[in-house]
Amino acid sequence: MNSRTELSSAGPSGLGKIVIVGAGPAGLLLALMLGQQGIPVTVLEAWGRLDERLRATQYGTPATRVFRKAGVLDEIRAAGIERFPSISWRKVDPEQTRITGIDLTVTKDEPDRTTVLPLNLLLKILLEHCKRQSSIEVKFEHKVIEVGQNESKAWADAVMPSNERKRFEGDYVIGCDGASSTVRQQLFGRNWPGITWDHSLLVQNVFYDGFTEHGWSGGNYMIDPNHWGLIAERGKGGLWRVTYGDIGGLTHEQYLKRREEHFEAMFPGHPKPDQYRVEQTDQFRIHNRCVEKMRVGRILLAADAAHVCNPFGGYGLMVGVLDIDGLTDCLIGMHQRKVGDEILDKYAEIRREKFLNYVEPRSIKNMNRLRAQNPDSALRDDKFLQILAHLEKDPEEAKAFLLKFSSIEHDFKQYYII
Ligand SMILES: Cc1cc2nc3c(=O)[nH]c(=O)nc-3n(C[C@H](O)[C@H](O)[C@H](O)COP(=O)(O)OP(=O)(O)OC[C@H]3O[C@@H](n4cnc5c(N)ncnc54)[C@H](O)[C@@H]3O)c2cc1C
Ligand SMILES: *[C@@H]1O[C@H](CO)[C@@H](O)[C@H](O)[C@H]1NC(C)=O
Repeated sequence: MNSRTELSSAGPSGLGKIVIVGAGPAGLLLALMLGQQGIPVTVLEAWGRLDERLRATQYGTPATRVFRKAGVLDEIRAAGIERFPSISWRKVDPEQTRITGIDLTVTKDEPDRTTVLPLNLLLKILLEHCKRQSSIEVKFEHKVIEVGQNESKAWADAVMPSNERKRFEGDYVIGCDGASSTVRQQLFGRNWPGITWDHSLLVQNVFYDGFTEHGWSGGNYMIDPNHWGLIAERGKGGLWRVTYGDIGGLTHEQYLKRREEHFEAMFPGHPKPDQYRVEQTDQFRIHNRCVEKMRVGRILLAADAAHVCNPFGGYGLMVGVLDIDGLTDCLIGMHQRKVGDEILDKYAEIRREKFLNYVEPRSIKNMNRLRAQNPDSALRDDKFLQILAHLEKDPEEAKAFLLKFSSIEHDFKQYYII
């Protein structure tokens, strides 16, 4: 595409419509940040409602900075728990011995500190903000089944429950339609590079007084070949989120039967089922995958539609939010005529490299740290745990470590020409 020519010959009104596929966190955040600049946006969502499954809960400092930029941080903080004091790594022995961890209270007065809020609540906040922008329309029950493009336009064809089919046309179509993205499959087919793990992930909301009675708080990573996972305080009213891996290939009923044993081993006080209450359970496969290209002409991919990783370390949406922040800066730069559309190639290349070079290896290490090492020698064998043990002795250094400009962040405004 000859972008320089397009830059000089484009009309005075900047970008035309942007069509976003998927009203997940990535799609809604992109809509909001574009809508705030007066760029017209249509979001097409297959379902009749927002996602209620037990997925993301924690968003590191880089994502927090973007939430502030989008004007939603205060509401996210108000909806979540006040305290998220520490993250610990523990053994699954009778005392759940703490190996090491990181004290998050060193950042408690820092505006960029980690944000904690279950995804379903985050989605509600994002949708409410979108509704207040006149340039944004969100259309539920519009399942995109086909996308297309020519030199000047891109479009998405959606079907409604009535079977009516409608075309939505814009300057660009952005696939924010998650791990099983239709937009990605339209561009590249069903397969995409990477792995699917043999394990299943069981995720549940749990109420159990024993956590606080035994002095637990924050996040607790459990290192054990049979009972690996994360137990973390996640919401108001004593809501804890328990996530653990189990062997693959069982039925949901078989998983639920095995759960008592996992909980008894992993929870402090080793409780029986009548001592805790489980409120919701979801089951996931675990993938680490990345698409070949995040841009094909006027069709782009972002967040889970472009790359997925296992949830340990909370990289999934955090890196998705950084995709959205980068793409927003690119599109706003084009809208304000500060750069041509070649900046979208930068977006596609750099965000993909960030995933492959940093997120993917780290997320795999994070998961293997829990399931594939000897808990008794973990502190001796595992460099990352050693770094944390060192940081625990030095609050100032720990603070700098938590707040530093991360290697997964990238400022795309540096490519503006004007
Ligand atoms: C157990 C678990 C824990 C996690 N914990 C964390 C965490 O703590 N921190 C973190 O950062 N990340 C975490 N993640 C990852 C995070 O949830 C995802 O990265 C994030 O939800 C991806 O957002 P998205 O908007 O790209 O996709 P999704 O959230 O999948 O949203 C995609 C949307 O597109 C819609 N859609 C799909 N197909 C179509 C179509 N054809 N037409 C129209 N609409 C369509 C879907 O209905 C959905 O609403 C976790 C994930 C899991 C499973
Ligand atoms: C591209 O598609 C749009 C929308 O269907 C149409 O209006 C336009 O004429 C097409 N342009 C070219 C060059 O084919």
